[in-house]
This record gives sequence, C-alpha cells and structure tokens, in this order.
Amino acid sequence: MSIYTLKDQRVVIIGGSSGIGLAVAKQTIEQGGQVVIAGRSIDKLEQARQLLGNGSIEMHPLDNRNVDELQTFFEKIGSFDHLFTPGASYVRGPITSDLEIACSCFDAKFWPQYNAVKYGVPYISSNGSIVLMSGAFSQRPLADGASYAACNGAIESLGKALAVELAPVRVNVISPGTIHTSFNWEGAEQAVRDKSYEEYTRLNLLGRVGHAYEAAHTTIYLMTNGFTTGSTLFPDGGYILR
Ligand SMILES: NC(=O)c1ccc[n+]([C@@H]2O[C@H](COP(=O)([O-])OP(=O)(O)OC[C@H]3O[C@@H](n4cnc5c(N)ncnc54)[C@H](OP(=O)(O)O)[C@@H]3O)[C@@H](O)[C@H]2O)c1
Repeated sequence: MSIYTLKDQRVVIIGGSSGIGLAVAKQTIEQGGQVVIAGRSIDKLEQARQLLGNGSIEMHPLDNRNVDELQTFFEKIGSFDHLFTPGASYVRGPITSDLEIACSCFDAKFWPQYNAVKYGVPYISSNGSIVLMSGAFSQRPLADGASYAACNGAIESLGKALAVELAPVRVNVISPGTIHTSFNWEGAEQAVRDKSYEEYTRLNLLGRVGHAYEAAHTTIYLMTNGFTTGSTLFPDGGYILR
C-alpha cells in the first residue's frame, strides 16, 4: 500500500460543504480517510453529506469569523490529523473603497485561518499537517484588489512562519488560480464571475479555468507528503508566469 494516502486519517475541513473543500472531502473519503466538515449553512452541509455518500463524515455548523465558535468547535471534535481552511467570503475593491471592503479579506480569510490554527493545533497529531488557503492573486495582482492581494501574501508568509513554529507538524499553503466553484465574492453578480472566468482563460498558460478536484489534488499532496513543509503550491494553469 502507498504511504501517500489519507487512509485512516481524520481530516478537518473548515469550508468543506462546497467547492475545493468539498472536493478534498471527497478525495479523502475515496482514500479511506474520515472527514469533519464545517461551514455556516446547515443545508449546504446536509447536501454535502448526501453527495459524499456513505463514507465517514461528521459535520458541524460554524462561522469561522467567530473566535468563540472556533474554540468550541475544536474542543468538541477532539484529536485529528490534518486541517484545511478554505472557508471564506469577502469583497474586493479599489484602494478608494470603504474601510469595510478593504478589511473584508483580512476579516474573512486571514484571521479565521490564523485563529483556526491557534485553537486547532493542540488537537493535531504530531505527524499531521495544516494546509492554509491563499490565492495566486498574491503573486500576480490585477487592478482593484490591493487588500485581497496583500491578504493572500500575508497567508503565504503565515504558512512559512507556522511551519517553523509548529514543526514537526507540517504547514503548507495552496494558492490556486481561478477554479470553477460556486464561490462568488459576496454581492457580486454571476455575470461578473462569468466575465472573470472568461478573462482568466486568456491570462494563464493553459487557457482554461481549473477544476475543484485539481485544487483538491494539490491539497491532498501537501497533506500526504511527509517531507513537505513551509511550501506554497500554485495550481493556477501557469497564471503567475503569463
Ligand atoms: N474558486 C476560486 O477561483 C479561488 C481561487 C483562489 C483562491 N480561492 C479561495 O478559496 C476559498 C473559497 O473556496 P471555494 O472556491 O471552494 O468556494 P466555495 O465553493 O464558495 O466554498 C466556500 C466554503 O467555505 C464555507 N464558508 C464561507 N464562509 C464561511 C465562514 N464564515 N465560516 C465557515 N465556513 C465558511 C462555505 O460554506 P457556507 O457558505 O455555508 O459557510 C463553503 O463550504 C476562498 O478562500 C478563496 O479566496 C478560490
């Protein structure tokens, strides 16, 4: 049997009810692992459970922006092997935007992941790992997203710093390009999302948008390769090189 599988491993996915998190849950179960999925909507968690079938699935409603909820969540679930933290929703805007817009990425993406590690780390197995969610916008920003680019850059630095602080627990970061998911910047019209998909096909080397299962595959690699820590991987179709 390959040592590079999640068989009998317990994987916690905050933001596991759709998109990349759900694809990671599916691949974990296919490999014989157990998943704990969390997200705000009970309906979405229920739909995810139905989609994932009969595997070993636990689900918990959680808003990761609420520090008390995060702390209680980890106390409740107890020990586990791997943590993945894609749950986020935020808005992007130009530098002249209201402070609320500028702060939304840090409030909904940076601090929730920072706090998830803070409260989750006492329960992670010493040969386990953490995968943080960033985005390739960190390396190749487009207009009107300075705070979002800075937030992703901060997450990539956080991953390196935590790899140093938490070893032997491994900490890595996935920084995808545009991936087909139901992710929609809060308040943005689907037409805006569709236009950004179309633009993305011209902005990367492979000429297409990625799939959630491709980003999930990268995440599972980071969880299962026991000699990889402090790394950021970019499943982005070559976006940052074009
Ligand atoms: N898709 C892309 O093109 C792309 C590219 C680069 C980076 N990313 C990053 O990937 C993440 C989004 O993943 P996705 O594309 O797979 O989107 P998605 O399909 O919308 O999944 C987001 C997941 O996070 C959960 N979530 C959202 N807000 C939450 C909160 N406050 N507390 C707990 N869970 C929460 C959602 O469930 P509920 O709504 O029920 O809470 C859902 O399960 C974001 O961090 C985004 O920056 C995405």
